[in-house]
Amino acid sequence: MNILIIGNGGREHAFAWKIKQSNRCNKLFVAPGNAGTAELATNVPIAVDNFEAIGKFCLEQNINLVVVGPEAPLVKGIRDYFEQDQNLKHILLIGPGKEGAQLEGSKDFSKQFMLRHGVPTAKAKTFLVHEVNAAFEYLDECAPPIVLKADGLAAGKGVIITPDINEAKSTIREMLVDKKFGEASTKVLIEEFLSGIELSVFVLTDGKDYVILPEAKDYKRIGEGDTGPNTGGMGAISPVPFADEAFMKKVEDQIIKPTITGLHKENIDYKGFIFIGLMNCSSDPYVIEYNARMGDPETQAVLPRIKNDFVDLLIDAAEGNLSGKRIESTVDYAATVVMVSGGYPGDYPKGKAISGLEAPNPALVFHAGSRQVNGHIVTDGGRVLAITGRGADMASAREKAYAGVAKLSWEGVYFRNDIGMDLMNLK
Ligand code: AMP
Ligand code: GLY
Repeated sequence: MNILIIGNGGREHAFAWKIKQSNRCNKLFVAPGNAGTAELATNVPIAVDNFEAIGKFCLEQNINLVVVGPEAPLVKGIRDYFEQDQNLKHILLIGPGKEGAQLEGSKDFSKQFMLRHGVPTAKAKTFLVHEVNAAFEYLDECAPPIVLKADGLAAGKGVIITPDINEAKSTIREMLVDKKFGEASTKVLIEEFLSGIELSVFVLTDGKDYVILPEAKDYKRIGEGDTGPNTGGMGAISPVPFADEAFMKKVEDQIIKPTITGLHKENIDYKGFIFIGLMNCSSDPYVIEYNARMGDPETQAVLPRIKNDFVDLLIDAAEGNLSGKRIESTVDYAATVVMVSGGYPGDYPKGKAISGLEAPNPALVFHAGSRQVNGHIVTDGGRVLAITGRGADMASAREKAYAGVAKLSWEGVYFRNDIGMDLMNLK
């Protein structure tokens, strides 16, 4: 099989690492990739949403399987593009079509979908620009904190949580009237606040059957103790100790099954990952959001715990053969620490030389925002590296991850020292 991975983050480096271990993988390409994927695969300088160039490349290189990493090309319809082209439609592709990707691309669509299929989620009401006054009246009846969500993709910035009703009103005005997030905020959801602990559950489906991947916990805030602004993710832990068998059974029965059946009933042919962001509210799971892809950095903690041949799983999903399949995972723990550029998630410099990459590392080193310049690897993004330690328990996984982090550095590097600490204290 010749395989093309679309994307350039740590998630795609982890995909490449796992796919490369399969003897079903012949040639492996990543478009556009990063300095880490370049060590395992051939990077191809094509943008993730340039479907024409991606299609042409697939034909030239006899690609048999395309694995789409990020949401943007899915929401823009990469699957639909392949299916509508006589020359491309035979190529297997992991990722839903435009309609299925609405589970992530439209919070209003996903909320209505959950309501139609009885999936537990926070109560919410959607408002359009001509309904600003109705939104204000509704807010007056809501108990703070208030959760506001822009309907569309807003680069992870579309959720605002505030204890202050007046601030909520001005944010609603900015979103709907001033179009703060452009098209993404033509609709806004006012949602009930759920309190509990979050976790991420990942499903790979062929549209009718599914396998459940190991769950993970993501650390979204920039600062230790979950403080400061939201980021793409500063670390991840898998497994999650409170996601015991009883809790995961509730997740499967109350959330995963109705989601997959719902997609099937609505004739949404979904072949790909569903990342379910959950809140554990007093031992009951509620969906915060669906994503139409794997998480980053969760993938870097989840894939190292999967024993299956990953290419087998991907082909089975793409061909509709997941019935009877299951994920074999290790009992080990994985802890992923993300090393970022100083200043992230605000402005940050790029092009800083990364030192320590040549030395042996006790952890897995996944690249996210890195680039090779004249034989040197330099920083090229906010999230630069994701370091995954594995161990028999969480403490030793963390120890390995941080020992790996200690070997690497660049000017202005920052990482959180407390990834997984909250879960250690829970035990
Ligand atoms: P999202 O962009 O949907 O992932 O939301 C970003 C973050 O906002 C989530 O990871 C949660 O921490 C938080 N969040 C979203 N919706 C809710 C809610 N209804 N109640 C509490 N927290 C929420
Ligand atoms: N780590 C969260 C995400 O990938 O959306």
